[in-house]
Amino acid sequence: MIEVPAILRGPAPFGARTAPNRFFAQPMEGNDGENGGCPSDRTVARYAALGRGLWGVAVVEASSVVSDCLARVNQLILEGRNLDGFKRLVGAYKEANPDGILLFQITHSGRKGLGGTVPTTLYEPGPAGARLLDTAEIDDIRRRFVAAARIAEQAGADGIDFKMCHGYFGAEMLRPANNRADGWGGSFGNRTRFLRETVPEVRAAAARADFLVGARISMYEGIRGGCGTATADELVEDLTEMGRVVELMASLGMDYVNVSAGIPGETSEITRPVPQGRWFYLQHIRYSKLVSELLGAASKTSGRRKPAVIQSAFSILKADALELAADCVGRGYSDFAGFGRQEFADPETPAKLLRGEEPRWCVCCSGCTKLMVSQVNDGCSFYNEYYKKLLTAKPGV
Ligand SMILES: Cc1cc2nc3c(=O)[nH]c(=O)nc-3n(C[C@H](O)[C@H](O)[C@H](O)COP(=O)(O)O)c2cc1C
Repeated sequence: MIEVPAILRGPAPFGARTAPNRFFAQPMEGNDGENGGCPSDRTVARYAALGRGLWGVAVVEASSVVSDCLARVNQLILEGRNLDGFKRLVGAYKEANPDGILLFQITHSGRKGLGGTVPTTLYEPGPAGARLLDTAEIDDIRRRFVAAARIAEQAGADGIDFKMCHGYFGAEMLRPANNRADGWGGSFGNRTRFLRETVPEVRAAAARADFLVGARISMYEGIRGGCGTATADELVEDLTEMGRVVELMASLGMDYVNVSAGIPGETSEITRPVPQGRWFYLQHIRYSKLVSELLGAASKTSGRRKPAVIQSAFSILKADALELAADCVGRGYSDFAGFGRQEFADPETPAKLLRGEEPRWCVCCSGCTKLMVSQVNDGCSFYNEYYKKLLTAKPGV
């Protein structure tokens, strides 16, 4: 019988709320929305299954704040016209897991816009075919983030997650390479203006005082001038500036920092370690530890509650993830153990573990990634027949 360390089983503070345990379901795109980004029956069923998993906290996958720049053809779009669909998704999740916390990740796909929509860029050079965003468009995107957060709350979400990671619009904003001259690039102040202005507006617009606001960041993207480097033309990791971003998040009163790294599709293995290069999970420990230290120091100075820290990339470790997660929490390196691919392999992972049962462990075969890249519905192609068939039907995938 599998034993879950006590430190992971127990309740944990999360902003003004308490999560029933320290298992954290990371946002995972399923690319199965319908009718212009509305959660479909398949989407709702996926979240009902995740609800049965009794995760302490779960994040609904990257949902776009616009419909003209999407990373997936069937990406969820968090606009008012889809409110009923999102209510259905939250209802299904909460029916199974009423005590669990449910967040919505909100995003603009930026350079990663695909699937019949046009990618955008904040600075030149952008990827082939990308349109340079003008100042008015950035303001509009910002307003849409605020509007999307309201819709998330109306749908029943407990909070939102700004997607500032993985090479999307939010990450592009933060990069030293963002050299815009219109007040949205150049200095550190301008590159963090999006967070500084949008977070207070989201808070002010929220009806609930305990509505949770946090963000997911890539501490190091692994590209020249990317997040986690010192200058626009530097490739070598330097976390000084991302440390300042983390301190800024604390000063804005954000409830949590979801610590990630890399850019899927560019420096993919940094984000999600694979069996041939599993050791990148060690870097995720280092990133979380640094974030936790900075937040601890900031909270000592300000007297404010310390934002919760979520550590990523546990799936590669299978059952060994439990011991490592308990150790990291015990040492104060992180507060929650974030699993991505494992939730596709077995959405009921925590519930099974807490009952002493072995879940279906993710084999990190990259099947879900291949499905996502080929723009079809994605999920676990190793254990789930529907996705297995989709993968075999896709020659060249
Ligand atoms: C198919 C797929 C979809 C993903 N979708 C998202 C997403 O919507 N938002 C996000 O921040 N990360 C996304 N990720 C990254 C995961 O949340 C996670 O950080 C990554 O898989 C590493 O964790 P793991 O090793 O536990 O899988 C996705 C990853 C995969 C493989």
